[in-house]
Amino acid sequence: MKASKRYHPSREFSQKAHVRSMGAYRKLYQQALDTPEEFWGAQAEREIHWFQKWSHVFEWNPPFAKWFVGAKTNISYNCLDRHLSTWRKNRAAIIWEGEPGDQQVLTYQELHRRVCRFANVLKGLGLKAGDTSIIYMPMIPALPIAMLACARLGIAHSVVFGGFSAEALKTRIQDLEAKVVITADGGWRRGREIHLKATADEALADCPTVKDVVVCRRTGHEVAMHAGRDHWWHELEQSVSEVCEAEVLDSETPLFVLYTSGTTGKPKGIVHTTGGYMVEVACTMKWVFDLREEDTYWCAADIGWVTGHSYIVYGPLMEGATTVIYEGAPDYPQPDRIWRIIEKYKVNILYTSPTAIRAFIKNGEQWPRKHDLSSLRLLGSVGEPINPAAWEWYHKVIGHERCPIVDTWWQTETGSIMISPMPGAIPTKPGSATVPLPGIVADVVDLDGNTVEPGKEGFLIIRRAWPAMFRTLYRDPQRYGDQYWRRIPGNYLTGDAARRDKDGYFWILGRVDDVMNVSGHRLSTMELESALVRHPAVAEAAVVARPHEITGQAVVAFVTLKHGGGDGKDLVEELRSWVGHEIGSFAKPEQIRFVESLPKTRSGKIMRRLLREIVTTDKVAGDITTLEDLSVISRLSSQQEEES
Ligand code: WT7
Repeated sequence: MKASKRYHPSREFSQKAHVRSMGAYRKLYQQALDTPEEFWGAQAEREIHWFQKWSHVFEWNPPFAKWFVGAKTNISYNCLDRHLSTWRKNRAAIIWEGEPGDQQVLTYQELHRRVCRFANVLKGLGLKAGDTSIIYMPMIPALPIAMLACARLGIAHSVVFGGFSAEALKTRIQDLEAKVVITADGGWRRGREIHLKATADEALADCPTVKDVVVCRRTGHEVAMHAGRDHWWHELEQSVSEVCEAEVLDSETPLFVLYTSGTTGKPKGIVHTTGGYMVEVACTMKWVFDLREEDTYWCAADIGWVTGHSYIVYGPLMEGATTVIYEGAPDYPQPDRIWRIIEKYKVNILYTSPTAIRAFIKNGEQWPRKHDLSSLRLLGSVGEPINPAAWEWYHKVIGHERCPIVDTWWQTETGSIMISPMPGAIPTKPGSATVPLPGIVADVVDLDGNTVEPGKEGFLIIRRAWPAMFRTLYRDPQRYGDQYWRRIPGNYLTGDAARRDKDGYFWILGRVDDVMNVSGHRLSTMELESALVRHPAVAEAAVVARPHEITGQAVVAFVTLKHGGGDGKDLVEELRSWVGHEIGSFAKPEQIRFVESLPKTRSGKIMRRLLREIVTTDKVAGDITTLEDLSVISRLSSQQEEES
């Protein structure tokens, strides 16, 4: 392995940091390892307000965990009420900017008032603790307000990213058996209106559990309102009180469900609960982002993904920070929109994805150079491995070689950041997420669970339960155990490959299952394939990823057609829009290649490894003796690429 360059935090940065040296990190790590209950108990007391203390910190009934057992709390209380008796009451909680340029600043007091009012609206509709809601909204203040109002009452929310189609939304509403859908007329993206209400109406045609739909007015365009079912947010809000006490909730009350792609055609509902999630998200906010009182913090992800839940909404607000929320595309109307926002609000911490960084590189240095980025103190990356070249660019052009970079590895399932530098303590190596945070016992193993030697590739696992971990898959505890905890018994299987170097640094190499990562969004091979074969012209489909210079990976679909199913360019476009309709535009395959047949093993399993090789190298090598029809390979590899 070649030695990679190291970057040390400046003395100035380290001196002011929460964790200031490698020694301090090691000490914390060791405490969490030796006495996890004392360690997490102490963090929980320092970071969080509890209405009632726990009887014990941790209960492990493999593979089911409980944290802060018996304790009573509320995350909405911890994000809002707690700050109102401090100087923070008039601090900006949310600085919001819409894509057209409109702005709103909500102080903690104002946000609290708006959350209480909306919680009373939900109460007025008869909703109560134990119910479930779907939130399908653009990135406007009403989105975190809706989340915090649900959390205040003990209603588990499931935010569906605004880029999902009616089909995908419907599946999620049905699986969750949601009683209420909270949405908006629309939102702005690249100057165009995203018609959320119209899409929701299409989905709702088939969702009998939904009794009420609350619609927030954003774009002002006319939408259809179904009498008896649909209500305008601003109308319901007129008649409610602005006093609403936070419910006293058990630590294990479900907080949210986020659907994510797995290895089957059906998305999984990842269930997170309250107490443990709060504690670890709050701790990682401090450890990783090194938050200070005066900071303005911006995570440029979408709230529809877990990154936005933990590090746009709950983490920053629990810590009493100022969190920037921006509605639209970072390069609209000009490629410097993101840099303008940083200059305008004097952002100190920026958290974004490698895909975004590579797109900024492509747009050119002239765009960030036009702006004063001197407010930046720390940079973060999340969602996929960051290639060293992108890391170096981020460091030089955006960070002016002054800002540490935190490459944060985690997942929807983990709830909070797991492997990441503590910026004042850990020297970084471009491309490595560095070392696990306190309480996270990560390892790289073979299929039998034995630790592999440094430098060798293996499966990334977590050996012990951690507070913010998901608790189950919604209505599928069996799959939760089978898929994550029983393959290497007692350990959490992440689905990623990794290697560890001689210094104990982790290098994440990507997924080992049939999950692809496009622009930091998880896409499932099976989900895409089932969407394609639902099209009347398609007989079979096999989907693989190819490396892509901007999005990390891109989707390539191999498709065989039914007899007389047509061919040619029209069908390529039609199938791409079909996937857009079935899942969402962001899932559209980059290429569709029509083939006569797919390579399969004798048992009929599609040999995706081979297809992967074809799209990566345009050659085929390796062992193909299990192939049923060898001739198909030569036909496949000589096949001309269909432009999409
Ligand atoms: C998968 C999880 C967690 C927020 C966004 C994605 C990949 C995530 C990194 C990183 C290398 C990363 C992994 C992981 N991933 N962060 N810093 N370095 N890979 O959440 O949709 O649940 O996807 O994203 O492959 O398993 P997600």
